[in-house]
Amino acid sequence: MTHKEREGTFEIELNAVSKAFVDASGRSLRNAEGKATAPALASVSLAVPKGELLVIVGPSGCGKSTTLRIVAGLEEADSGEVWIAGRAMKHVPPQDRDVAMVFQGYALYPQMTVRENLEFPLKMQKVETKARRKRADEAASMLRLGPLMARLPSELSGGERQRVAMGRAIVRTPRVFLFDEPLSSLDSALRQELRLEIGALVRELGVTSIYVTHDQVEAMTLADRICVMQKGSVLQVASPREMYESPATPFVATFLGTPRMNLLAGVADGSGGLVAGPFRLESPPFARASGKLIVGVRPDDVHLSNAGEAGFERAARFVVAASEPLGAETHLVLRTGGVEEVEMRVRVSGFYTRPLGSVVFVTLDAARVHLFGADASGARLP
Ligand SMILES: Nc1ncnc2c1ncn2[C@@H]1O[C@H](COP(=O)(O)OP(=O)(O)O)[C@@H](O)[C@H]1O
Ligand SMILES: [Mg+2]
Repeated sequence: MTHKEREGTFEIELNAVSKAFVDASGRSLRNAEGKATAPALASVSLAVPKGELLVIVGPSGCGKSTTLRIVAGLEEADSGEVWIAGRAMKHVPPQDRDVAMVFQGYALYPQMTVRENLEFPLKMQKVETKARRKRADEAASMLRLGPLMARLPSELSGGERQRVAMGRAIVRTPRVFLFDEPLSSLDSALRQELRLEIGALVRELGVTSIYVTHDQVEAMTLADRICVMQKGSVLQVASPREMYESPATPFVATFLGTPRMNLLAGVADGSGGLVAGPFRLESPPFARASGKLIVGVRPDDVHLSNAGEAGFERAARFVVAASEPLGAETHLVLRTGGVEEVEMRVRVSGFYTRPLGSVVFVTLDAARVHLFGADASGARLP
């Protein structure tokens, strides 16, 4: 594709980007058993449209930071291409990519006031004093930093410092924002507040952004689209809702949502019947499935009933093993007991009053279960 044709389609594009870290003499890194470690990135492809906030989420070590650093130009890919605004980024140094990066524990200049910190990137770009002041004031007002302009970083709280760091990224109005777990060192109340602010700010500025986090709540709440990574690969890219309602694999399914999705070993008989752990389900969605599979059930889709209630004769018997009251809802852990014990996590609203050890009867809504292949890929079944 020519430069012109690509322009306007995607603001950021990664095409089959791979990266393996090597030691000082260029050999691949070894793990404790002396085997070569898996590459940090294995053919990652991603396309972010203009103005989108894409959140990359995955467990520690899955390659999120490496992906971001390659987009920023701080790390070089072994193979594959990075495009920003229709321009191939090979040989383009970080300062010429029009990208601003904010990360955890972002270092502010300790001897400079908030204002001087905000103006610093503009000073480096030789923006004149008056324009610098104006843009720093605008950024400060968006981030509610006005009253703090004369303070030093040591006189700020963690959240305020992180806001200044963000301010320093936005004064330049870059083409692309890259956030690497910018909130992970903050306490949870502050994280919630800043999460909302970052979302609002990025959307107000309309700047294309990639936001990296290991926190699934941050991903669900902030993202236009979420990208789930595992072991250097992209598993799924979708809107938060689609990701939650139609996860592509059991890993994605259990990574998003608290408590996590229950996974049961299942067998479908090919004619509409399905056995999943202690449950027998019958419903059209399984009519075509047959053989072994994995049955996923969200904790919200598990129904508790008492002896004698409707549907009770089809219910499986569990015992309440643990109960975590959160106020608005309670998370229960239920167990069947016996040799092939099955454990299920359930969400009930409000406080749960029955004591641990109580017997409960559980039914599942067949139309709401998720089916995955029992093979290594675990791909979602239609
Ligand atoms: N500079 C480096 N040298 C060697 N290995 C690295 C380096 N940076 C990252 N890695 C390895 O690459 C993999 C991906 O790391 P990273 O991208 O930092 O993951 P994440 O940000 O998702 O936690 C990890 O196995 C990590 O140990
Ligand atoms: Mg990281």
